[in-house]
Amino acid sequence: MSRYDNKVALITGAGHGIGRSIAQKLAQDGAAVSVLDIDEEMGQQTVEMLQSDGHKAIFVRADITKYDEVEAAFAKTAETLGTIDLLVNNAAFSMAGDLKNMPLDAWHHEINVNLNGPYHCIRAVLSSMVESGGGAIINIASVNGVRYFGSPAYSAAKAAIISLTQCVASEYGSKGIRCNAILPGSVQTDAVAWQTRIDRDPNVFEKLARWYPVGRVGQPDDVAKAVSFLGSDEAEYISGVALPVDGGLLAGMNVMIDEFVLEG
Ligand SMILES: NC(=O)c1ccc[n+]([C@@H]2O[C@H](COP(=O)([O-])OP(=O)(O)OC[C@H]3O[C@@H](n4cnc5c(N)ncnc54)[C@H](O)[C@@H]3O)[C@@H](O)[C@H]2O)c1
Repeated sequence: MSRYDNKVALITGAGHGIGRSIAQKLAQDGAAVSVLDIDEEMGQQTVEMLQSDGHKAIFVRADITKYDEVEAAFAKTAETLGTIDLLVNNAAFSMAGDLKNMPLDAWHHEINVNLNGPYHCIRAVLSSMVESGGGAIINIASVNGVRYFGSPAYSAAKAAIISLTQCVASEYGSKGIRCNAILPGSVQTDAVAWQTRIDRDPNVFEKLARWYPVGRVGQPDDVAKAVSFLGSDEAEYISGVALPVDGGLLAGMNVMIDEFVLEG
């Protein structure tokens, strides 16, 4: 018996990076997986990977900023696979940057994808979860939601998602719905913001490693393993938390300590 036998999981942004890894992990743990992405080619690739490993998976295309597309994708998932037991709000978009140089339309776009998008998905799934007696929602936020590491609009949206997580956990706990957030630190993917930094410095992840007490940046699978646990019945008494999956980054300023506090 696996954690997710007879369960249906919908993962947004599962065509790429961390989302693909989450889809693989949940499928390995027994879930039927709905891969939602704006990028049809990449989303279909994830589905083919899962199916070729013998897992049950479908692709649903939607732009999470458009509520009608989200509703249609969730309805197709329910018709094809059954009621959604686990929603993973993973899709996101960010350009590397700071506030001074941020174009107005970039601010609006990042808030739209990173805050309104997850809200649309939560809104689309809640009533069916209530009707079926419960479910789990995991919002992939970021360490940027609790400390500033650049990318202002993205960070503001991630902070808001932590608040939305608490809101859903509080309002829907009595309906059997748990809602938690995961806060990854730097995770080695070729997401747009990382690709910009990799183009500037191909060794960016090696250089970042020194900021992480465990001595390395994260891998997509580090996040996927946390999702698998938090979304499962093993975490039945955990709701409303913001769990860092960050190799200890938020625990302290180890570089400052090494350089200034423990010197000599
Ligand atoms: N990579 C990191 O270092 C890191 C760190 C902290 C948090 N995170 C979070 O982890 C999650 C995944 O990040 P990633 O690095 O794998 O990103 P990624 O860019 O590699 O993948 C994001 C996926 O979301 C999809 N997507 C983007 N906009 C969409 C939209 N409007 N509608 C539907 N799908 C859309 C993309 O097509 C892509 O498949 C995000 O929530 C991100 O904020 C990542």
